[in-house]
Parts: sequence; C-alpha cells; structure tokens
Amino acid sequence: MELLKERIIEAGSVVSDQVVKLDAILNHQVDPALIVEMGKEFARRFIESAPTKILTIESSGIPLAFAVANELGVPFVFARRKKSVTMDENTYCERVPSFTKGIVTDIMVSSQYITPSDRVLIIDDIIANGDAARGLIRIVERSGAVLTGVGIAVEKAFQAGGRSIREQGIRTESLVTITSLENGKIHFADC
Ligand code: G4P
Ligand code: NA
Ligand code: NA
Repeated sequence: MELLKERIIEAGSVVSDQVVKLDAILNHQVDPALIVEMGKEFARRFIESAPTKILTIESSGIPLAFAVANELGVPFVFARRKKSVTMDENTYCERVPSFTKGIVTDIMVSSQYITPSDRVLIIDDIIANGDAARGLIRIVERSGAVLTGVGIAVEKAFQAGGRSIREQGIRTESLVTITSLENGKIHFADC
C-alpha cells in the first residue's frame, strides 16, 4: 500500500535494527484519514472471505479493526490484556510473550463474542515474531469459529511472524513489508 509506505517514510523512525517507531501515525497518535484508507484496503483484500467479525488486540489494533469492521459492516472485538470486572467466566485466555516489552501477558476474549458460527478476520498493526497473532489464532480455534485470514498493517519480514503464520496455511496479508531496518534506514519489499 503506497500511501502507508509514504507515511512511514515521512513519520516513522528507526529505533534499532529490530524496531521501527510509528508513534506519529499508529501507536500513540493516530492518523484517522490514513486508518480509514487502510481499513478500505484490508476490506478489499478480505471481503470475499466473508468475515462476520474482526478480531484484534488492544491497544494499537483497535483503530484499524474499527476501520475494517466499519467498511465490512460487521462488529469488531478486541482481546483485552487485563481482566475486567464485567468480563464473564467463559473467557478464552492465552499467554503471549511480547517482543518489544520483554514480558509475558495474558490476552482475553469472552466466548460470548466469538462463537462457532463466526467467520473471523484477525487484524493487527505490526507483526514481529507473531506471538500476539498466534495467541489470537488459538482463541479463534478454541472458539470453533472459522478463521478467514490475518491482516497486518506492517510486517517486519526479517522476523519470523508472518512467515510462520503463512506456513500454518493461514492467508496472511500485509499492507507494507519492511525487509530491513539496518543502518537506520527503512527498506521495503517491492510489493
Ligand atoms: P509479535 O506479536 O509479532 O511477536 O510481536 P510482539 O509480541 O513482539 O509485539 C508486541 C508489541 O510490540 C505489539 O504491540 C507490537 O505491535 C509491537 N511491536 C513489535 N515490533 C514493533 C516495532 O518494530 N515497532 C513498534 N512500534 N511496535 C512493535 P502491543 O504490545 O500489542 O502494544 P500496543 O501498541 O497494541 O498497545
Ligand atoms: Na498490536
Ligand atoms: Na503495537
């Protein structure tokens, strides 16, 4: 997605060989017009798989999931990282290690909102090692719903997340692919 690539070049910065900072558009401040366009692009790529629900994880996945869900006319659900008092007992919980934070967190989705009759499209902002996405995939599997695919805004192809999910036979689409962050420069894949 050319527009996202341009915005990353403008507003992104390289933190290390592994980490790109996108706080100006995705991870702290959010650019709504850009998010709307990203939602349209995800919807275009996945509409044929007929999702009935979008699933993401708080917090940075939420605006993207909103945009896709609004485009497709379906609800979105975000996995919570902390147990809420209003959450019922029938909750799918998965333990997920976090690459950037260096900690392990629990992610939770109530079984009320992902059911066996759902067709679920997972959306997330950035994929590194894929632990968060795999946690969401396990929740979809446990729910008995059909997983229609995984849509990622920014895939870091030098980390194994995207590849490992494709190897599971799951359709995985990234809007932009970063091939390297070496020497302080963001390199993108051609497509
Ligand atoms: P993984 O799921 O692919 O293994 O990635 P990981 O656990 O490492 O991701 C943990 C968090 O770090 C995620 O955000 C993910 O989006 C973010 N992340 C991974 N690599 C980068 C990067 O290069 N740049 C930035 N800016 N973020 C990265 P999160 O913990 O879910 O936090 P939130 O942003 O959703 O609140
Ligand atoms: Na995320
Ligand atoms: Na994030």
